Amino acid sequence: KQDDDQLIIDAGQKQFGATNCGSCGMVYSADNPEDNFQHTQFHQRFLDSIKFVADDVRRVADNELGFQQLTLSRPTQSKTYLFINTERMVVGCLVAEPIRQGYRVLEQPDRHKDMMKDDFMERHRAWCCSTVPEQALCGISRIWVFSLARRQGIATRMLDTVRSSFMYGSHLTKEEIAFSDPTPDGKQFATKYCNT
Ligand code: ACO
Repeated sequence: KQDDDQLIIDAGQKQFGATNCGSCGMVYSADNPEDNFQHTQFHQRFLDSIKFVADDVRRVADNELGFQQLTLSRPTQSKTYLFINTERMVVGCLVAEPIRQGYRVLEQPDRHKDMMKDDFMERHRAWCCSTVPEQALCGISRIWVFSLARRQGIATRMLDTVRSSFMYGSHLTKEEIAFSDPTPDGKQFATKYCNT
């Protein structure tokens, strides 16, 4: 045949036309030996370049947060987000899960504020939550940024990404996310991020 456009003959083969690899993302023709070879090479290089496993990163974060629980409570519904810097190091990890409600942290009375002039005391005091549930859709079960990469907006960027990608087709508002029992750092960050 003279027509240069026809490159593959549809003879009823099992895999016909373009295939999108679910792991490396390469689009290739599975029934074309040359394409297949290119894919195998690219696929291996791709896997070699990703040395980390999300579970391992989460363990590092859990360790720093003092979490004993090594497995997620609802692994199939949770989503783990990793922040990878330009040196291809994982410097941020966030685990989000679907929730239905959250409990707002209550502002402390002014007389307590006077007693807490010391910044350390203020950061580490216990806080009280409302007993009235409020609707929320996404729970931040844990958020962690590598100590040397903090205060560079990484947690903010991870949260922004969660809000735009956690629920397919909808952009979550800041009111629709809730943080589970935050650490002093987590509370300071959440207060700033949510403008509360
Ligand atoms: N103290 C005071 N304000 C803070 C702090 C802090 N430690 N961290 C963040 N903020 C506020 C600031 O206003 C900051 O803006 P600025 O730097 O311009 O002043 C703003 O939040 C945005 O901060 P980011 O740079 O986006 O936050 P970062 O990337 O540093 O990550 C995080 C914050 C995740 C809390 C980090 O400090 C961390 O990993 N800490 C140790 C682990 C931890 O405690 N995680 C929270 C657990 S709670 C939970 O997981 C639900």
